[in-house]
Amino acid sequence: MQQEQQFSRIDWVASGCRLLKSIAAEFAETRPFAGLTIGTAIHLEPKTAALLMTLKAGGARVVATGNLNSTQPATAAFLTENGIAIIGEQTRDAGAHHGFIDALLDDKPDLLLDNGGDLFARFLERPYDNLIGGTEETTSGRTRLTPLRGELARPVLVINDSPIKQFAENRHGVGQSLFESFLRFTNRSTNGKRVLVLGYGACGKGTAACFRHGYSAVSVVDIDPVTTLEAHLDGFSTPHRNDALRAADVIVTVTGYPGIVTAADLPLLKDGVILMNGGHFPHEIDRDGLLADPAVVSLAVSPEDVIETLSLSDGRRIHLLAAGHMANLAGPRPLGNSIEAMDLGFAMQARCLERVAGRTLGRESCLIPVPADIDRRIASAFLDLNR
Ligand SMILES: NC(=O)c1ccc[n+]([C@@H]2O[C@H](COP(=O)([O-])OP(=O)(O)OC[C@H]3O[C@@H](n4cnc5c(N)ncnc54)[C@H](O)[C@@H]3O)[C@@H](O)[C@H]2O)c1
Repeated sequence: MQQEQQFSRIDWVASGCRLLKSIAAEFAETRPFAGLTIGTAIHLEPKTAALLMTLKAGGARVVATGNLNSTQPATAAFLTENGIAIIGEQTRDAGAHHGFIDALLDDKPDLLLDNGGDLFARFLERPYDNLIGGTEETTSGRTRLTPLRGELARPVLVINDSPIKQFAENRHGVGQSLFESFLRFTNRSTNGKRVLVLGYGACGKGTAACFRHGYSAVSVVDIDPVTTLEAHLDGFSTPHRNDALRAADVIVTVTGYPGIVTAADLPLLKDGVILMNGGHFPHEIDRDGLLADPAVVSLAVSPEDVIETLSLSDGRRIHLLAAGHMANLAGPRPLGNSIEAMDLGFAMQARCLERVAGRTLGRESCLIPVPADIDRRIASAFLDLNR
């Protein structure tokens, strides 16, 4: 051995994003974004850095901001050093976040990469001419933007509506990382714990499966009876909601909707219950409502572990992880979804933005799923790299 060298987590992640690496090499030749500005509002963490560097390799000028709470300073610094214009910083303040969104739109990007609908929704309130279209990453963003489809009237490809995103990232990726995050935040075992998963979509399925593999007794509650039947046939217990809340040691919300656990549920919750959210917005667990309830007499906070303990007048204690923000992107050393899961999802982002930049799609392609030929191409490329 000649010499020991160091590498960063950003280097480690970049070397694991093998699909993005091969796309970046191709884009350096084909330059699909030459002359275009791409504006992005997505969690700024090392996997995103690999995506943004891929877009830059394709000739784009990239202007990037994060989502609420999840911006990692080391990633933002790396991207700045590498010629990506970063707007804003880590914040939990929704007002500050909206300011960053406005500053990004001031740049009038030709393409938007959105995550939760913030960029496109705000664009409609302060439009400009040169927006070709873009991509939306999430279920929550699609739900939010669907009523605005007529006004948007541009190609917007919804990454979440690809089967690959559903099973690779939402099911396997989110499941593993929420499970890992429970261990990372709490250092508590999962064996024998009664874990309640609220929402049995793709993310909920993976979460329920991972806790089951962690020797927990997992129950599932979903408002859709068909989905609940699926959970039942998958072998999970499916009690009525209030019974499930009463029994749970750990409650995980992954629905994409607000108010899934509220102050009205306080009488049901067990002493010592741990609440965590994996859905995109922190509003699934109504933290403010919980804190405002007269039954809550004090709040203790561990800043190091980002755990809040609410003490109730009857002596019960309720623990909330990451103030209800997505647990896998918050707290100490947040790793997010696995590199492989995000390499697949972000390869779709790169290919979809390439498709929109090619101007072959019209307004009828507003909020449509990833074109099937892109899914097939990415699946084949990933399999080839892993044979
Ligand atoms: N943490 C992450 O890294 C990450 C990654 C991807 C997606 N997400 C987010 O996770 C959330 C869920 O995503 P998904 O792809 O699983 O969505 P999905 O639409 O596939 O599933 C959501 C499920 O929640 C159920 N549901 C809705 N309201 C409910 C309620 N009141 N009580 C119980 N169940 C209810 C629905 O019936 C559905 O089955 C979204 O907010 C998404 O943006 C997070």
